[in-house]
Amino acid sequence: MKNILVTGGAGFIGSNFIHFLLKTELKVNIINLDAFTYAGTLENLKDLPDMDRHTLVKGNICDQDLLADLFQRYAIDTVVHFAAESHVDRSISGPGPFIQTNIAGTYMLLEAARNYWAGAKKLSGVNVRFHHVSTDEVYGSLSPSDAAFTENTPYAPNSPYAATKASSDHLVRSYGHTYNLPFTITNCSNNFGPRQFPEKLIPLIILNALNGRKLPIYGDGLQVRDWLFVEDHCEAILTVLQNGQTGETYNIGGGNQPANLDIVHMICDLLDETCPDSPFVPHRDLIEFVTDRPGHDRRYAMNIEKIRNTLGWQPKHSLQEGLKKTVQWYLSNVEWIAAIRTQQEYQHWLAENYDKRESSI
Ligand code: NAD
Ligand code: DAU
Repeated sequence: MKNILVTGGAGFIGSNFIHFLLKTELKVNIINLDAFTYAGTLENLKDLPDMDRHTLVKGNICDQDLLADLFQRYAIDTVVHFAAESHVDRSISGPGPFIQTNIAGTYMLLEAARNYWAGAKKLSGVNVRFHHVSTDEVYGSLSPSDAAFTENTPYAPNSPYAATKASSDHLVRSYGHTYNLPFTITNCSNNFGPRQFPEKLIPLIILNALNGRKLPIYGDGLQVRDWLFVEDHCEAILTVLQNGQTGETYNIGGGNQPANLDIVHMICDLLDETCPDSPFVPHRDLIEFVTDRPGHDRRYAMNIEKIRNTLGWQPKHSLQEGLKKTVQWYLSNVEWIAAIRTQQEYQHWLAENYDKRESSI
């Protein structure tokens, strides 16, 4: 692992992964390919620990010529594929970009890797790897009494987002089976932490609460997610890159499974403690129950025995610790927030989705 193509490295998890990797002792070069959609921002790449090892390329994973050039020019031996459209709500209002980036884009990237690695003399004797970053949502929804998802749970994606991620997982696996492309896949649960775009539950609640906006809870708020602090996810991916078996899939999860309403209460209480002089204390008063997400999955939970038993990885952060760090990060990074807020696309999305939404009570 020397020359790594990271796709989507200006987004939430991708940028955290780059920060994390550059802090390790590993002597790797990172080529970061990102299209800078609404979710990617240069702000996420400020203050990288070792700029010399990071090359930023603005471009699309659907651009075959660009991909061929990058593999060749940088002698790419490892791909860590984060780039995706990642927000379930947006996939419901408009699935098109999800089909394009998540399915067609993954196919283009697989083709570029296959073509280059088949012919690359420079790489003879080098172990190559295509690592695909996926989600627990491919497994569908659990009822309260169901056991957690394992790597053998059949795929049953429910949202357009989940269906495109499932499709990309199948493509990756098929390239392994058919063309012997060395791959690994990780399916991870809900991440939270620094640099997450404030359309996702936790940063949305933090920023709305700080500004005295309503805190929208979909449906009854009793849906359950398996929350993982993003730094733990980054460590898990590196563990799989270094020691995972090619051709294998690993589930990653945080073991923190509160209902959405509980997590919103935790954030409100943390903000009451941290900002006691805010005019919005108690922040819980801002909570508003709103119309549910169509087809909303009720519960996710990950069984992480495989990665724990075979590779020795497990999450380091409790939910409370992770939330504290996250709230602190948003409080200390006003420039980041200001940069996101001024994006026209974000303003438009907020107005469309939150200012007009009707309360369900
Ligand atoms: P994000 O939306 O924050 O970032 C996605 C990044 O991909 C952005 O920087 C965007 O500009 C880039 N991108 C989008 N389309 C592109 C294209 N066509 N070409 C090049 N770049 C493109 O997403 P995230 O939350 O960081 O998620 C990263 C990956 O992890 C995704 O594959 C997602 O499915 C997966 N995942 C996310 C979570 C989570 O909780 N956020 C959990 C499990 C898995
Ligand atoms: O499970 C992994 C997935 O987690 C990733 O694959 C996705 O990329 C990521 O976006 C995330 O999907 P979710 O739909 O679970 O995340 P989101 O933050 O949008 O929502 C979390 C829960 O909170 C979900 O049950 C919906 C609910 N919610 C969300 C928002 C934005 C609300 O109640 N109110 C809100 O305003």
